[in-house]
Amino acid sequence: MGVPASLVVPGAAAVPETRPRIAVRGLTKRFRRRDGTQVNAVDGIDLDVAEGEFLVLLGPSGCGKTTLLRVLAGLEEVDAGRVELDGRVVDDPAVRVCVPTERRGLSMMFQSYALWPHMTVAENVAYPLTTRRVRRAERAARVRRVLDVVGIGPLAGQYPGQLSGGQQQRVALARALVAGDGVVLFDEPLSNVDAKVREQLRTEIARLHRELGFTAVYVTHDQEEALTLATRLLVLRDGRIAQSASPREVYTRPADLGVARFMGAGNEIPGMLRAASWSPQWARWQWARSRRARCSAAASRPPQPTGRPWSRSAGPSTGASSPTATAGSS
Ligand SMILES: Nc1ncnc2c1ncn2[C@@H]1O[C@H](COP(=O)(O)OP(=O)(O)OP(=O)(O)O)[C@@H](O)[C@H]1O
Ligand SMILES: [Mg+2]
Repeated sequence: MGVPASLVVPGAAAVPETRPRIAVRGLTKRFRRRDGTQVNAVDGIDLDVAEGEFLVLLGPSGCGKTTLLRVLAGLEEVDAGRVELDGRVVDDPAVRVCVPTERRGLSMMFQSYALWPHMTVAENVAYPLTTRRVRRAERAARVRRVLDVVGIGPLAGQYPGQLSGGQQQRVALARALVAGDGVVLFDEPLSNVDAKVREQLRTEIARLHRELGFTAVYVTHDQEEALTLATRLLVLRDGRIAQSASPREVYTRPADLGVARFMGAGNEIPGMLRAASWSPQWARWQWARSRRARCSAAASRPPQPTGRPWSRSAGPSTGASSPTATAGSS
């Protein structure tokens, strides 16, 4: 099933933009709990999301994924920092800017389907175009096409209550994508559907992303989903970025033990690091350490009539700073 030309952004895949679609600086969002304690849900985050990126947010429950998404969407006011969308400041409490959700030009697909029960499938999908004042004829054409793309064209006249969970998910997906080239925020969009539909929709989202070139920020708990969809992973912990890298890098070179554990217990091998790899710095450090130990040992014992040879314990010679020496020679 090909993607219609009118939904494809001209040159979206070919010409990389230098300006990020989303730019976040020092973003902080705190909540006060009912017991008076404060939680830093988002704690000074800096983040750029480039045109066409598929950024997947991962992290343990409560680490701030939904809050970050809601801030981007304009559903939460920030305490500090700045958010820019396509170079336009939409959040900055320092200059009293907070652009409302409907004027940010974003699409969203959250965990709850949030479909209007009194509107048909076609009307639900058309809704974002209505708020963007797209003309009626063009609106109808785009809705028809996007419904075909996600495979529910024949259901256009149905009401949400007459659809299965998986079909409702597709309606929500169609509504998120109808704008074509925009920024789409997804918060665990597939968590309410069974495994088979989830796999189908995941594949569909990946294909649509390749073909439409939209920019995505996608929250999931499902690591397989993350590794399938992401062009970049952002692992959050306690409202901060623990690692931001390609899926391969996060999986093979986790930033720390916390990230490694989060990515799967199979990555954790108990043991003791004796030497990571040889380098001139490492050899110099070994030499200086041995020399210090040797000097203090020499100072604490009576003078020896002859020198006692020693050598480094491991690693090749560094040439000029060769550690071969004899006790008492320095
Ligand atoms: N309205 C609120 N009032 C008080 N605290 C809140 C509120 N919303 C979120 N929090 C707190 O902010 C922190 C981050 O919450 P958030 O919903 O962003 O986490 P999450 O990473 O999306 O978690 P999950 O994976 O469980 O969905 C949590 O400690 C949560 O309890
Ligand atoms: Mg959440």
